[in-house]
Amino acid sequence: MKILIVGGGAREHALAWKLSAEHPKGQLVCAPGNPGMAAVATCISANPADPEELFQLAEHEAAELTVIGPEVPLANGVADRFASGGRLLFGPTQAAARLESSKAFAKAFMARHGIPTAECEIHTEASGALNALRSGRLGYPVVIKADGLAAGKGVIIAPDSASAEQAIREMLVDQRFGAAGATVVIEEHLEGEEASFFALCDGQRAMALPSAQDHKRAFDNDQGPNTGGMGAFAPTPRMTDEIRARVVSEIVEPVLAGMAADGHPYVGVLYVGLMLTADGPKVIEFNVRFGDPEAQVVLPLVAEDLTPLLVAAAQGRLSGRGCVLRTEPHVGVVAASGGYPGSHSIGLPITGIEAAAAQENVLVFHASTKRTDAGIVTAGGRVLTVVGRGATFAAAIDLAYAAAALIKFDGMHIRTDIGRMALTLAA
Ligand code: AMP
Ligand code: GLY
Repeated sequence: MKILIVGGGAREHALAWKLSAEHPKGQLVCAPGNPGMAAVATCISANPADPEELFQLAEHEAAELTVIGPEVPLANGVADRFASGGRLLFGPTQAAARLESSKAFAKAFMARHGIPTAECEIHTEASGALNALRSGRLGYPVVIKADGLAAGKGVIIAPDSASAEQAIREMLVDQRFGAAGATVVIEEHLEGEEASFFALCDGQRAMALPSAQDHKRAFDNDQGPNTGGMGAFAPTPRMTDEIRARVVSEIVEPVLAGMAADGHPYVGVLYVGLMLTADGPKVIEFNVRFGDPEAQVVLPLVAEDLTPLLVAAAQGRLSGRGCVLRTEPHVGVVAASGGYPGSHSIGLPITGIEAAAAQENVLVFHASTKRTDAGIVTAGGRVLTVVGRGATFAAAIDLAYAAAALIKFDGMHIRTDIGRMALTLAA
């Protein structure tokens, strides 16, 4: 079966790696892909943000299934374009992708369908937003979010009224996030532990995948600026059977029923960012695709072929059975460029990738790398994800770090505490 994978980060490399066990290289096409994906697939340069270009590529390649990695093509309507052209695609329509692309939409949807989440107010005018803050209804700290896609940067946790009012002014007056911040969600701050739940959805049914935890801050002990994610581990011990059952019955099933009832049946990966509060699991955010770096530790836990599941989901016929899963701990460490998420150099030679990937129970996924005549060089902020698999979290952590230590480039930055919290959780 010919499959087109859209995207070019470590998440998409993990998808290509998983699918490469099911299909020969000639059957896998990546747009644009990366040097890691090029080992298992044909990479074709394309603009992942352009639905028409992706549809024409799928036509040209006669792709029987297209799998979308990042959120932007989905928010831009790639699923709608493929549906109108009669090509199978795994991912939500533009209207359904608003669960991620508009936080105001997601909050109104959850309120309408009784899905547990933080209390909030939605504003487009600074005066109304400031009045809402001054009413004190939501307390402090308070969370201010830009409505639209802001690459993980549009969330500000304001400890007091001065910083909250400044965040409101930055978004609604100074337009720091452009159109994405023209509407703001002001949200009650939830207390608890976070976890990320993933499911494959076919419009009606969900098939749960392992839950994960990522490490968003740049430095050890959750210090420093937010990043796209510096590492992840799965399956998280936080997601007990009891909590998972509540997430499914109180969140996932009502999301699917609500989206279908509203005329936008949800097909694709549903990623629920959760706060496990004293009152039960509550939604922090939805994403409409796999997480990165979560996919790099979740996909290796899928112990059956992924292709039939993606096809069944895209065709609206998941069986309702559970996914066959491995249970061994997986820990993924991101090797980032020095300075990331701020400014950083690119084009720096990388050594040791093959040696790291040759280690037993280790996977190395490329994120931002480039092949040059002189070898592989860095090409962005998050460069590689190194994943270790072990019988215990301690073993998986040791393997991931031992392999990461074989990789070198100038300024390489890795957090040294990825997965450590799983040790206490698992104890
Ligand atoms: P988001 O981009 O919505 O996932 O938010 C980024 C991070 O901000 C989350 O992973 C949480 O750590 C934090 N966050 C967002 N909303 C809340 C909330 N209502 N209460 C507490 N923390 C939050
Ligand atoms: N790791 C967080 C995300 O993919 O949104």
